Amino acid sequence: MLDMISKACFHALAGSRTIERLASRYGMARPTSFGRRFIPGVTLDEAIAAARAVQSQGMSVTLDQLGESVATISAADAATRGYLEMIAAIVGSGVERNISIKLSQLGLGVDRAVCTDNVRRILEASDPHGFFVRIDMEASPTVATTLQIVDTLWEHGCRQIGVVLQSALRRSEEDARALTAKGIRIRLVKGAYKEPNAVAYQRKADVDAAFRRIMEYLLREGTFPAIATHDPVLIDAAKRLAAEHSIASDTFEFQMLYGIRRDLQAALVAQGYGLRLYVPYGRQWFPYFMRRLGERPANVGFVLRALVRDR
Ligand code: FDA
Repeated sequence: MLDMISKACFHALAGSRTIERLASRYGMARPTSFGRRFIPGVTLDEAIAAARAVQSQGMSVTLDQLGESVATISAADAATRGYLEMIAAIVGSGVERNISIKLSQLGLGVDRAVCTDNVRRILEASDPHGFFVRIDMEASPTVATTLQIVDTLWEHGCRQIGVVLQSALRRSEEDARALTAKGIRIRLVKGAYKEPNAVAYQRKADVDAAFRRIMEYLLREGTFPAIATHDPVLIDAAKRLAAEHSIASDTFEFQMLYGIRRDLQAALVAQGYGLRLYVPYGRQWFPYFMRRLGERPANVGFVLRALVRDR
C-alpha cells in the first residue's frame, strides 16, 4: 500500500513542470551524485564516455536524449536536432548505433504530423549508418497513436525501428501479436506510468504474470525480442524457457537501465547472455529520475543523503 502511494506521489512529481523548474533553480541543474548513478551525464560527451565504459564491460547500449512532453513545435524541433547531433557524434565515436526516442519529446502532444516528420528526420539521418531506433512507450493515452506511427513507418519500409510494450497494459498481449505478425521488434517492459484500472493491471502480481505470458510468446515467436527487466525471477524464467525450447541465446537480448542492479548485469554478461543498457543523458533528467525513485522507495533515502552530501 505504502509502495503504491509513494509510486503515485513520484508520478505526480515526474509530471510537474513547476517542481522541475524549482529543482533546476535551486542547485539541482545537474543530477545529484545519487542521480548520476542512473543518469551518467548531461552532455553528449558524457553520454558517449558512459556508453564506451558500458561496452568495455561486455554490454551493448542504447542512448537516450532525456526529455518528454514538449509543448511547442519549436521545442520538438530542438529535441529532433539534438538527436541529429547525437547520431553524428555516435557515428564519429565508434559507439554502437542504437538509440531510443520518445514521441512526446518530438511533438506527439502538439501535432501528430510534425511528430511523424521529426521521426522521419531522425530515421533519414540514422538509417544510412545502420542505426536501430527504438520508440519508447509512454503513458497509456499515447499508446494507440504511437503504435499507429510505428505501423505507418513500417509500411513505408522503415525496417530499422522497434517499439516498446508494457505488460501492465491490458491491451499489450494483443499488441504483441499484431506487431509480431509484421516482424516488428518489441522491447517488453512492465511499464513505468501510473495507469487507471480501466486500461492497466493494478496488482504487481498481475503485471508480472502478464510479463511472463508476453515474454514466453515473444521468445518463441517474436523478432529478436528484448526482455527489459531487473526482476531476477522473470530473468530466470526467460533463461529456463530458452533452454527448454532450444531458443538460441543470440535470438533475444536482455535489457536493463543504466545503474540498476549492476550485480545482475555482471552476472548475465558472465553467463554469456546479450545485455543492452539504456543510457540516458541530458538536462531534462527530472521526470526520468522521479520515475526511478518511484520504482523503489528505498532510493529516496539514498537520494536525501546524497543531497545533503552534495550541498
Ligand atoms: P520491478 O519494478 O518489479 O523491479 C525488480 C527489481 O529490480 C527490484 O526488486 C529492484 O531490485 C530492481 N529495481 C527496479 N527498479 C529499480 C530502481 N528504480 N532502483 C533500484 N532498483 C530497482 N517503461 C515504460 O513505460 N516505457 C519504456 O519505454 C520503458 N523503457 C525501458 C527500457 C529498459 C531497457 C528498461 C530496463 C526499462 C524500461 N522501462 C520503460 C521501465 C519499466 O517499465 C519499469 O518501470 C522498470 O524497468 C522497473 O521494473 P522491473 O521490470 O525492473 O521490475
